[in-house]
Amino acid sequence: MNQTSKPLFQLFPLIVGLLVTVTLLVGIVGGLLYFDYAGLKLPKEAIANPQEIPTAPKSTALMDPVGMWIAPEWDKVDSEPNAEDIKYGRELIANTAEYLGPNGKVKKISNGLNCQNCHLQAGTVPLGNNYAAAKSTYPKVRGRSGNSEDIQLRINGCFQRSLNGEVLANDSKEMIAIVAYMDWLGQDVPKGETPKGAGIYEVPFLDRAADPIQGKTIYERQCVACHMADGQGVMKADSSGYTYPPLWGANSYNQGAGLFRMSRFAGYVKANMPFGATYENPMLSDAEAWDVAAYVNSLDRPKREFPNDWPEISKKPIDHPFGPYSDEFSEEQHKFGPFQEIKASASK
Ligand code: HEC
Ligand code: HEC
Repeated sequence: MNQTSKPLFQLFPLIVGLLVTVTLLVGIVGGLLYFDYAGLKLPKEAIANPQEIPTAPKSTALMDPVGMWIAPEWDKVDSEPNAEDIKYGRELIANTAEYLGPNGKVKKISNGLNCQNCHLQAGTVPLGNNYAAAKSTYPKVRGRSGNSEDIQLRINGCFQRSLNGEVLANDSKEMIAIVAYMDWLGQDVPKGETPKGAGIYEVPFLDRAADPIQGKTIYERQCVACHMADGQGVMKADSSGYTYPPLWGANSYNQGAGLFRMSRFAGYVKANMPFGATYENPMLSDAEAWDVAAYVNSLDRPKREFPNDWPEISKKPIDHPFGPYSDEFSEEQHKFGPFQEIKASASK
């Protein structure tokens, strides 16, 4: 191409763009004016038959949004004396793998998941396994350890189990930051209280055992597009974390993790998966949530012994999938249900 025609050639797309914009604007403004002028009567005619009045879809929300916990406004964080810690804490929750994953730039102590993969939007989503009650309810006595657990111990619990990794020292910059962030999140929650919408949704029990075979069909229909047929998800191109995290296999949470309990998995998924579902707009039925939990939690994942767990076996949650138990129900029933009768016998 010769030098003189080049500038004109470069202008060409601009001119076309301008023309298109002008045409669109004229069309939109003209259309609006037309409806304003002539169209006012249109809606009335259209709804002459009341059955045609469009109605909002029936609410299927899992909880009434009124009074749900909401996180403090992030914009205000800079007014905190420890703003730097809080911000680093949030960054660690959102992008854990980048700092602490297999290629972590601070330490290599975890499997590549981000805390946020399970604690959505850095632990701020109602019924998205948020941290609303972390500040207000810790330290607390937990059946799993049989001891009073402070928030650091609980955080390390997820490092060792959900991230199948190692603990952070309590006085490390990273632990201090994560705790600062959780304290900031829970600043408005009175001590001892669990606000509405905290944690994970409790899916009502089915009157049958959850079925991994039906769960496989649900997985193939509703989950496979992102988590993939082999359940290994999709890694980001720069290996700094997952675009879609794995649900089973060597890089997933281990058998000591919360999600390995059916009720935790079903509850998390019911209110949050397929990605885009919310507690106000859930996409799976209760049975689908239980069945897909049964399928995913039937497949291989890292085993890890925690021999000091549940020193008092009567404190085991009814869906803890490993015996011994303080009742006569089988390991199989404790894993897949039906849970109703176990629950009834436990409350006797
Ligand atoms: C694979 C999923 C998963 C990942 C990843 C994960 N967690 Fe969790 N976490 C859970 C589940 C499940 C629970 C239990 C929720 C319940 O029982 O209601 C939980 C509970 C917690 C709690 C207790 C909340 C409360 O109110 O009692 C804290 C704190 C926590 N996680 C911190 C973390 C941190 C920090 C990370 C990242 C290092 C992390 N978690 C990563 C699944 C996960
Ligand atoms: C449109 C894509 C998409 C679909 C479909 C989808 N997920 Fe997810 N899933 C995600 C993403 C993205 C995350 C991580 C969320 C984040 O980090 O914000 C996730 C996280 C999870 C987690 C916690 C993290 C982990 O790896 O253990 C579970 C469990 C999960 N999904 C289960 C399911 C199930 C079961 C289905 C089908 C019913 C499903 N998902 C469908 C995108 C999807």
